[in-house]
Amino acid sequence: MSIKVLIGTQWGDEGKGKITDLLAEKSDVVFRYQGGNNAGHTLVVNGETFKLHLIPSGVLYKDVICVIGNGVVIDPEVLLQEMDGLKKRGISVANLKISSNAHVILPFHRMLDRKQEDARSDDDKIGTTSRGIGPAYTDKISRTGIRIADILNEKALTSRIKQKNWGEVLGVTEQQIAGAVKDVLVFGDKLKPFVVDSVSFVHKLRKEGKEIFLEGAQGTMLDVDFGTYPFVTSSNPTAGGACTGSGIGPTMIDDVIGVVKAYTTRVGEGPFPTELNDEVGNFLATNGHEVGTTTGRARRCGWLDLVVLRYAANVNSLTSIALTKSDVLSGLKELKVCVAYEIDGKKVKDFPCDREMLEKAKPVYKTYPGWDEDITGCTKFDELPVNARKYIKAIEKELEVPIDIVSVGSGRMQTIIR
Ligand code: GDP
Ligand code: IMO
Ligand code: MG
Repeated sequence: MSIKVLIGTQWGDEGKGKITDLLAEKSDVVFRYQGGNNAGHTLVVNGETFKLHLIPSGVLYKDVICVIGNGVVIDPEVLLQEMDGLKKRGISVANLKISSNAHVILPFHRMLDRKQEDARSDDDKIGTTSRGIGPAYTDKISRTGIRIADILNEKALTSRIKQKNWGEVLGVTEQQIAGAVKDVLVFGDKLKPFVVDSVSFVHKLRKEGKEIFLEGAQGTMLDVDFGTYPFVTSSNPTAGGACTGSGIGPTMIDDVIGVVKAYTTRVGEGPFPTELNDEVGNFLATNGHEVGTTTGRARRCGWLDLVVLRYAANVNSLTSIALTKSDVLSGLKELKVCVAYEIDGKKVKDFPCDREMLEKAKPVYKTYPGWDEDITGCTKFDELPVNARKYIKAIEKELEVPIDIVSVGSGRMQTIIR
């Protein structure tokens, strides 16, 4: 029996979905612990592509139990659509469980997300996914949120809604609010068979000796505490969030797997020291198909940043790394890796938490020779070109965390397990 956590080490879209799907084969439970449908996790199996937003990435295995935990914010309409979409493709969602304590995203949260983003100056725009994530988490923290249990009970919901002042804030009418309440009760009714007390549910499975896999969304640099605040999401994607988002305490976690993309991407606004606005950036974007899974926006691309990754290794206490998209680097003459930042003429190796310092950070690079070979068919580490092995070993040495998995393509089987 073991409990593993998987997190993103960069700004999201590292390939968490692919690695979770791969490792779910040996798991009994896959548990999403935070975020909402701002996430987009892509699974490619036998040439078929699945894009998941709320449903855990273990859903393709019929015997794996998928739990959406208390730390997640759920847009019930989106969840129902996702469940229907999977069912239409022959994927059963019978093993899905939804925490009664997860918070609910209502249309007003989505409206507020857009309104807040429009009101921000160009310098302060976050570039949110406009899915209502920030406003729903704001309500949770300010203790005015609506939880899954509330949408199963008209009386509870009506009383919770009375506390809101959406009419004033958003200019919506009483009639619109009543309409939304009616809709969400219908969604609640449809979701009811899946709703559980997720804490007792998961601990029962733990005591039975089940393998539990906690799947993170977003990434370390989008964490509301540890990321590039305020250009972050409103939850804790880092390993600690796995505990609060599931009700499994830290002493029970056996492994923390960090997913590292072999270069860096970011979608949305905010600092990105190794960003490349040149032909190499274009090469990575094109070769890596770097388009957002959720919003379809182009992802910004840049070199691998070890300052970020050392920080991620610490704040998540990583025990293992899964390196993804190394195949995308094939064809580059040389590869640069950021080993430190230069800030006001000083070399800095620790990630600066101060926004102004970070904005001034210039990457200090170490250069490695590239490789030309197509590596998407490699199944063993020794089959990789020598320069690819050197690049991977250099990252491993620098981070002092073993790279146990090397992903060489989007397909489930395009993976080297060391
Ligand atoms: P997530 O949000 O962390 O799950 O990542 P996304 O699914 O948003 O983005 C990762 C993208 O890279 C998806 O399109 C995956 O299918 C794809 N992908 C994952 N691993 C690899 C890999 O090793 N090589 C390539 N070429 N694509 C990959
Ligand atoms: P996965 O799980 C990449 C980014 C948004 C924006 C910021 C805040 O697929 O890795 P939000 O809507 O959460 O308030 O937006 O966070 N963002 C992501 N970027 N991958 C994600 O999820 C993201 N989820 C949110 O682009 O910059
Ligand atoms: Mg994604």
